[in-house]
Amino acid sequence: MKDSAQTLVRDTAANVYQPYPASILEVKEETGDIKTFTLKFKDKEIQEGFTFRPGQFVLASLFNCGEAAFSICSSPTFSDYLQLSIKKVGLLTGEIHRYAEGDEIGLRGPYGNGFPLELLYGSNVLFVGGGIGLAPLRSLIQYLLSKRSEFGQITIFHGARTPGDIVFEKDLATWDKQEDVNVETTVYRSTPEWKGNVGPLTSLWEKATISPSNTKAIICGHPAIISYVFFDLLKMGFAEENIISTLERNMKCGVGKCGHCSIGSKLTCIHGPVFTYREMKELSSVS
Ligand code: FES
Repeated sequence: MKDSAQTLVRDTAANVYQPYPASILEVKEETGDIKTFTLKFKDKEIQEGFTFRPGQFVLASLFNCGEAAFSICSSPTFSDYLQLSIKKVGLLTGEIHRYAEGDEIGLRGPYGNGFPLELLYGSNVLFVGGGIGLAPLRSLIQYLLSKRSEFGQITIFHGARTPGDIVFEKDLATWDKQEDVNVETTVYRSTPEWKGNVGPLTSLWEKATISPSNTKAIICGHPAIISYVFFDLLKMGFAEENIISTLERNMKCGVGKCGHCSIGSKLTCIHGPVFTYREMKELSSVS
């Protein structure tokens, strides 16, 4: 997939850091501290040229609050808009959470490498998303489902702290209704109303038949949790290059200039954020 928007945005800007105004079309409250924003560039030409790979990210900004990187959580097949799920963690995200339909924020991008779609064709795909780590996976899940016949079995595991922290609940329910998609959710801390799985993400292995020889695993979540997922997948027999993850790193420029996102010899904004386990092993902070 050619990143024409990346070319468009960068080529037309004298300043690579220039954000473009985008209108908020809709705000959906996912949990107490996560909202999903549906956005559309105000400039019709930019919106029409904005294409990306699942797994890429944008820099979102507000005047006087700075900017931060967010994975695009919608599929590129929905070309009229893009969606960002934003967790309230500081000044910028707290302010964006106060924004409503009709308000504007700045966007630039898309940046990063995105998921290796070419490796996934014809394979089974196992998604493992912890917390808001399901956001970048959602973009890829939607993309794969839009081209369903080109991929094998799709299994989606989602883990949340409590039932109230489950994101994309409606999507999870919709995906689960598809005959050829297996969705399992677990929570670490239950409530009296919760009738589902309780335990860590790794407690879900027994819920699905996973064949390591023809499955690609796509993982995203807190490092402390996904390290157990990596461990189990390797123990099951997954090849290191078939375990793929998108890493969270503090981005600044997004375009390979500041070095803020470096891991070992790599820049997450250019060489990542998507890496195979084999690549991650070679990065000093992960190995
Ligand atoms: S964020 Fe500046 S080099 Fe990656």
